[in-house]
Amino acid sequence: MTDAHRPASASVPSDPEGPERGAPAPTKADLYAELLVRLEGLVTGEPDWLANLANAAAEIYTWLPGLNWAGFYLLRGGELVVGPFQGRPACVRIAIGSGVCGTAVDRRSTQVVADVHAFPGHIACDPRSRSEIVVPIFDEGGNVTAVLDLDSDRVATFDADDRAGLEAVAELLSRSIDWGRACGS
Ligand code: SME
Repeated sequence: MTDAHRPASASVPSDPEGPERGAPAPTKADLYAELLVRLEGLVTGEPDWLANLANAAAEIYTWLPGLNWAGFYLLRGGELVVGPFQGRPACVRIAIGSGVCGTAVDRRSTQVVADVHAFPGHIACDPRSRSEIVVPIFDEGGNVTAVLDLDSDRVATFDADDRAGLEAVAELLSRSIDWGRACGS
């Protein structure tokens, strides 16, 4: 068969990253297990915090479905300052205790927000965002040093599986990033 007579579908290359045809759809746990392997491969042996956080933000944003923003806020000089991210430009500085990010730092715990419009004090960087998860990242001394923030343009995107998966990501980054340099201390 010449290319001119080949059915259109036969000429579309398969996505090397996509699931095999006929394979069951991956669960969130599968997605996060693979994400962890990919992130570990990106940061292992590379000491540059900026390169590592930039690649981590890009990997998370492209690997997980349904995101309109993914990235980091770094704790610098007593406030959160935006770090490497993917998505639309974001607010630069967030006070501890403000918004979802500042609340995650204040409470030292992951915040899963099903509907950002129902979260008092939510900071709307991108008006398309409808749900959000923010995970604190701790340094080796147990101090919050940054947060990992993911936004979705649909309500209730994030659940307990996302929380577990992203806390594992935060734990990996906790031990792989030079947080002293990242936070300018
Ligand atoms: N919505 C966040 C602000 C950061 S953006 O989502 C990127 C908050 O309320 O803290």
